[in-house]
Amino acid sequence: MKFELVVNGNPVLIEGNPMDRLLDALRDKLDLMGTKEGCGEGECGACTVLMNGEPVLSCLLPLIQCEAAEIETVEGVATGEASAFLERFVSDGGVQCGACTPGIIVTAWALLRDNPHPTRQEVQAALAGNLCRCTGYEGIHRALGRGAADE
Ligand code: FES
Ligand code: FES
Repeated sequence: MKFELVVNGNPVLIEGNPMDRLLDALRDKLDLMGTKEGCGEGECGACTVLMNGEPVLSCLLPLIQCEAAEIETVEGVATGEASAFLERFVSDGGVQCGACTPGIIVTAWALLRDNPHPTRQEVQAALAGNLCRCTGYEGIHRALGRGAADE
């Protein structure tokens, strides 16, 4: 079957089976390797992408549910208006091994886009499904606490 999606602003046609995972289609068919597989079971958030603006777990999402959806991956977020936030995310210590980083970046950006100055509690709630083994979340909170704008 063929599935029509918009990925990072570009219309794409993906050939595959209805139950193929969006995660695999992004990585193997569109060469968008920024989206990572962690647990593969919906537990870690590493594979998070945005679907119609909302964070979703691409390891659990079959292509059949993505027809006509707008998908944003970390590559799309990184080349858009989030670039200043991303620089701060790195300089504030939000990244160590990087395994969780693409999922956290897209989840954080979905929050900041709607709510440019979230409280610590709002950040914690938004990132509740994104596990990070390395940073203790302090650098991540520092970067998000400074908001979405280029400050
Ligand atoms: S790889 Fe999808 S939630 Fe862990
Ligand atoms: S930076 Fe290593 S898991 Fe988050």
